[in-house]
Amino acid sequence: MEFHIITLFPEMFESPFRGGMIGRAMEAGIVAVKPHALRPFGLGNYKQIDDQPYGGGSGMVMRPEPLTSAIEAVMAERPKLWRILMTPQGAPLDQAKVRELAKREDGLLLIAGRYEGVDERVRAMVDEEISIGDYVLSGGELAAMVLIEAVARLIPGVLGNPQSIEEESFSAGLLEYPQYTRPEEFRGLRVPEVLLSGDHGKIREWRAAEARRRTGRRRPDLIPRRKS
Ligand code: ADE
Repeated sequence: MEFHIITLFPEMFESPFRGGMIGRAMEAGIVAVKPHALRPFGLGNYKQIDDQPYGGGSGMVMRPEPLTSAIEAVMAERPKLWRILMTPQGAPLDQAKVRELAKREDGLLLIAGRYEGVDERVRAMVDEEISIGDYVLSGGELAAMVLIEAVARLIPGVLGNPQSIEEESFSAGLLEYPQYTRPEEFRGLRVPEVLLSGDHGKIREWRAAEARRRTGRRRPDLIPRRKS
């Protein structure tokens, strides 16, 4: 699957994906991360990208022409890319959205805005807008990387053990149960007896109960509401 990004800082995308599972998937040709520099699409001799907001106010706004030209140039090569504007005003990125995006085999085009915002008319150029959380980053680049990381690991062949995807936090809509490995006792803290029992039925029950309990305590907003 191809992830294209339109950005003023294409070099930001070089190292983060080099190591680890996604790096290996890139080497194997399962995943490709392709940043496209926005600057050459800027206006005039200075390759201007942003301008003052109409109506006044602080900060600069990204002009629509460079972004539109960049989007059109990438789409001319890959007409089926799904276009996503990274913005704190977008739909929240959660695991359900990540799963949905992982099915878009024709690839994604992520548009990373900078500065205080992008001209409203750019919205008409994209298929959807996504936010990675209720906080403001100074650019969409890190948000795009978060999205790529979350989506790429769901693509078949990227993760070594696909079963771990089924079991991990959020896949069942709950946080994951507590995990332990050796030693049996660490600084006075023992591994729960049930996990050492070898009774797989009991272990499954314990894990399900712990996942519900932990979710209820830490993220009650995730507990599915009972139908009354
Ligand atoms: N750009 C700036 N802040 C962002 C956020 N929270 N999510 C996505 N893109 C952003």
